[in-house]
Amino acid sequence: MSRPKPDRFAGAARCSTLGAWLRFAEKLYASADLALGQVATNAHDEALYLLLRTLDLSLESDARVLQKKLSVADREKVEAVFRRRVLERVPAAYLTREAWLGKHLFYVDERVIIPRSYFLEVIPQQLDAWLPAEKKVRRVADVCTGSGCLAILLAHHFAAARVDACDLSAAALEVAAINVREHALGARVKLFASDVFDAVPAAKYDVILSNPPYEPSALVDAQAPEFSAEPRMAHDGGVDGLAIIRKLLRQACTRLQPHGIVVIEVGGLRAAIDREFAALEPLWLHTEDGADCVVLFQAARLQRR
Ligand SMILES: C[S@@+](CC[C@H](N)C(=O)[O-])C[C@H]1O[C@@H](n2cnc3c(N)ncnc32)[C@H](O)[C@@H]1O
Repeated sequence: MSRPKPDRFAGAARCSTLGAWLRFAEKLYASADLALGQVATNAHDEALYLLLRTLDLSLESDARVLQKKLSVADREKVEAVFRRRVLERVPAAYLTREAWLGKHLFYVDERVIIPRSYFLEVIPQQLDAWLPAEKKVRRVADVCTGSGCLAILLAHHFAAARVDACDLSAAALEVAAINVREHALGARVKLFASDVFDAVPAAKYDVILSNPPYEPSALVDAQAPEFSAEPRMAHDGGVDGLAIIRKLLRQACTRLQPHGIVVIEVGGLRAAIDREFAALEPLWLHTEDGADCVVLFQAARLQRR
């Protein structure tokens, strides 16, 4: 006869304060070997975020919040959420239905990948340096928009620009529409169901930006459950990861102003891109953590090929 599995949550009833529950949650994360990186990079930060959100407490709460006594109802609510996170491996952002990129809040659910892009750093700090100061940025494209998060960051940064955002997933575009509405950007951010630029009306852009699917298919097959919970088409870039990037670069040369740029987040594909697109003179943008996985191409080089 097989023995019943020990209940990982047996100690939960003894956690009478938020701080005690936080310590308990950290142990749960370690024992279940949960994957991180979607909402926070460590168990402490993610568990604290989930506790504060579940109990409707401010994310800005100071350390005194750890002393907060939990009622029986509070503890039941918290345990229900962490059971889903730990036993079903549901990503934290799908439990709270929200994701933060810097100070910007986005609605998310299982129809979209959870926003976590290097463009949060690149858009405000680096793009302007590659654009002629005398030219106003009037048209921008976000290819593979998912939740619409980067299209919205672009619209906030280029306050006079129209942003065309496309995605092949109709389900993702439903979420993007919610976010465009919530950010009151419907007049400037337009959404298109399109395989890269195939169905986007002809236009010449100052900036084309994309965080496309770029994982090689075999890596996607081996992802942790938290990442498999996201839409596969948000990750899968084909056999070598480059399928969408190739198509985007082919199409971009007819879609750019002469002074325009294309910027693409490419994960671990730097060597492959340097090899295959050497003639286009890829320029690598430095990011604070040293990942340097955002590549920039100038229209003049793309249009020469
Ligand atoms: C890595 S996610 C990026 C989403 C969003 N831009 C972000 O940074 O959170 C890639 C997105 O590309 C979309 N996608 C996949 N193949 C596509 C294609 N051929 N054309 C347009 N979008 C595509 C997926 O549906 C997914 O939403």
